[in-house]
Amino acid sequence: MNTIDRTRLQSLLEQEEVLFHQNHPRSFELYTRAKRSLYGGVPMLWMIRWAGSFPIFVDHAKGAHFVDVDGNEYIDFCLGDTGAMTGHSPDKTLEAIKSQAEKGITLMLPFEDVISVGEELQRRFGLPYWQFALTATDANRFALRMARFITGRPKVLVFNYCYHGSVDETFITLDNEGTPGARPNNMGPQVDPRYTTKVIEFNDIGSLEIALSSGDVAAVLTEPVMTNIGIIHPAPEFHDWLRKLTRKYGTYLIIDETHTICAGPGGYTREHNLEPDFFTIGKPIAGGVPAAVYGFTDEVANRFEALLDKDDSDVGGIGGTLAGNALSIAAMKATFEHVLTEDFYKKAIKLQEYFTAGVQEVIAEFDLPWIVKQLGNRSEYWFQPAPPKNGGEAAANIDHELDRYMHLYALNRGILMTPFHNMALISPETTTQDVDQHTAVFREAVKSLM
Ligand SMILES: Cc1ncc(COP(=O)(O)O)c(C=O)c1O
Repeated sequence: MNTIDRTRLQSLLEQEEVLFHQNHPRSFELYTRAKRSLYGGVPMLWMIRWAGSFPIFVDHAKGAHFVDVDGNEYIDFCLGDTGAMTGHSPDKTLEAIKSQAEKGITLMLPFEDVISVGEELQRRFGLPYWQFALTATDANRFALRMARFITGRPKVLVFNYCYHGSVDETFITLDNEGTPGARPNNMGPQVDPRYTTKVIEFNDIGSLEIALSSGDVAAVLTEPVMTNIGIIHPAPEFHDWLRKLTRKYGTYLIIDETHTICAGPGGYTREHNLEPDFFTIGKPIAGGVPAAVYGFTDEVANRFEALLDKDDSDVGGIGGTLAGNALSIAAMKATFEHVLTEDFYKKAIKLQEYFTAGVQEVIAEFDLPWIVKQLGNRSEYWFQPAPPKNGGEAAANIDHELDRYMHLYALNRGILMTPFHNMALISPETTTQDVDQHTAVFREAVKSLM
């Protein structure tokens, strides 16, 4: 099998940086100006991690494409890392937003549409009761709070290298010896996460039973398939055991479908008949307008009700003045009804299979020890010969330099991949030509390395 010449990679990366600068003078100008008012020159600090030494500034976006301030056109396979999986500004969502904006944006009072959304959530995801938040982070935080409140247990359990948004309890990892500690660069945690959280590897049923058997874990918070350290599928029967053991030890199961909604209209949960106690999701459900929801079972609702003090329910740590605002609700209703439809998934998953096959062919043509993984309308390439079983293995094999090169090479040729792990999503507007263009650029990038 072929291997990558690291010295050559370094000089190629430098060439791509030069090209990036040449093609983005206006973005650079704006970045220089932004640095005078925005810390790091970016609206969110992590944006300094994009490949390229400054971020590109967008002029406009529609469907599966966007144009930057220098007039460069891009096929967008990043799609806001799932936030715009619906395609940018889908027409029906846009209509609903415009119409609602005329009638009121936020009131802290319900509109009738919120019931339609509640009913759709019930139908789509299978749980009977729903509440709203603005971000998936908050939906997870609120579900965790409810689980701890009801069970009276102090701890939560997460899997090594998970990501569920900026939820304090989740920034914990295992070191090389398997000892838990704050995740590297965990900035100013409220408390050492070892007090709040147990962390084990995904797919490790033995450790799960040991961790739950002490009876102090309120909830397991997990994605049904890990996606944030790359796609890591559950081992056969992992979900059966996860459910059996959480029930055996009285621990709630919170499934976070924010990314795995790529698996189908009801997420991985519906595709695989999972039975979570809580279900959380955010990002694409309102077509890019901030919105998130969390649902729970009758059993959770009844136990919560028995403990709830109505007079203090607004200061109990679960809230958000703007959550459930009329604009998000209208956008959510239209997005579920017209965009994230059964029909969309059928087409998008088929096109994603075509994307995956294209990447696979290139890997085979150049005899590389790489693989491509797919989950629904999400695919990504891995620079290693076999899929990792868990977050620890995945993290140990990340090749930042190669990752950066592949990303920047594509970006310089009009293709935006999701940063940090070269993942691609298919939107309702992505075309076969878009996918062919990606395959051709991917092939050229690989060829340049040989
Ligand atoms: C699985 C998962 N849950 C939650 C979140 C947090 O979403 P947000 O940043 O919109 O709060 C993310 C973000 O990437 C995520 O991947």
